[in-house]
Amino acid sequence: QPHVEGQGPLTTISADDLYYDPFDFEIDNDPYPVWRRLRDEAPLYYNERYEFYALSRYTDVAPALTDWQTYRSGKGSVLEVIRANIEIPPGVILFEDPPLHDIHRGLLARVFTPKRMSALEPKIREFTVRCLDPLVGAGTFDLIQQLGAQMPMRTIGFLLGIPESDQEAIRDRLDKGMNLEETSSEEMYGDGFLDGSMFAEYIDWRAKHPSDDLMTEMLNTEFEDETGTVRRLSREEILTYVTLLAGAGNETTTRLIGWTGKLLAEHPDQRREIARDRSLLPNAIEEILRFEAPSPIQARSVARDVELYGQTVPEGSIMTLLNASANRDERHFPDPDIFDIHRRIDRHLSFGYGIHFCLGASLARLEGRVALDELLNRWTDWDVDWGNAKLAHTSTARGWERLPVTLG
Ligand code: HEM
Repeated sequence: QPHVEGQGPLTTISADDLYYDPFDFEIDNDPYPVWRRLRDEAPLYYNERYEFYALSRYTDVAPALTDWQTYRSGKGSVLEVIRANIEIPPGVILFEDPPLHDIHRGLLARVFTPKRMSALEPKIREFTVRCLDPLVGAGTFDLIQQLGAQMPMRTIGFLLGIPESDQEAIRDRLDKGMNLEETSSEEMYGDGFLDGSMFAEYIDWRAKHPSDDLMTEMLNTEFEDETGTVRRLSREEILTYVTLLAGAGNETTTRLIGWTGKLLAEHPDQRREIARDRSLLPNAIEEILRFEAPSPIQARSVARDVELYGQTVPEGSIMTLLNASANRDERHFPDPDIFDIHRRIDRHLSFGYGIHFCLGASLARLEGRVALDELLNRWTDWDVDWGNAKLAHTSTARGWERLPVTLG
């Protein structure tokens, strides 16, 4: 593992002192040794400082993700959100349980269709080419700054109908609001949580200037709400969906692109193999997702007393489901720490599992594939300038904030 500059409090994990702290930047730089110890020594782990339980083995995480009756999202599915005990606006499906979740997800799924996603491919390619073409001939560039932070934002912005001139400001704000080094969790999830004022004006503008984007479609969609009334979405509801999609779809995809650059820099043979045979792209992206889950921890509230490993997890507890650890569980994946683009993956848990399975998974996969395809169209050799690389420490995603690549 390359050295990564570490910030924040230092935690020593000695042999007889197993401590997992998701907010510790030192651990976050390389959480895999701790996660392995959790799987081996404490498959049901309890963190006293933040008062949460953790499941880390595949056989525990996968069924828990699908058992929404026991493991609920209604108080939030991000650890800080549950702990902050804040009011969550309706429509944030990530933080909802059935029946509301089903109604709202069904509604979003009607506009966010696989057909609409795959029709986006030429646009995704255009955005990618626009990012990469100016870099041809450069000796080095930052993969995050130049591509990872740009293309997913352009894509979701295009999909929603947000003018390009304003996308950067929105992305900056979303990023800043999610960064643990810049924003406290109170600020992050307090009054300003899901502050959608930045999108409000676009909704009003779109109402007057309809187009074929998602925002227009949301304005025109009729649906049956929980009271049985058939109606259109309110401005506030649309605002919630737009903020949710921009929030959920941006950073995670940025991180996927970063991991793609990092892992393939470290595995030149596999990189060249994909360059020669592009039919390997889809499975390569799946292996990248398995190997480094951009969204590594899903949190839940426990709705009833649960017996696990001889202990009772009481109703009302917080349970974290470490999907990134499950993806590296040697009980489920042979040689899990070996990166292999030919690996047959039945199901990794990087997009979750069950009713909250990532709504944007097909879009994210497409973006990952196009990004790698276009990188390989220009360069088959690159390395990472480790001295200047930096991991982002955010509460919801794990990955690179700066990843300078030197080109061969
Ligand atoms: C849900 C990961 C990209 C929209 C989820 C969940 C995960 C995830 C793990 C489940 C959360 C839980 O169980 O509590 C990822 C990763 C991505 C990605 C790793 C990129 C590599 C996207 C994109 C969009 C999106 C591009 C949309 C533009 C959503 C939404 C949900 C969700 C709306 C909530 C679904 C529900 O609660 O029913 N994502 N996501 N995601 N994702 Fe993604």
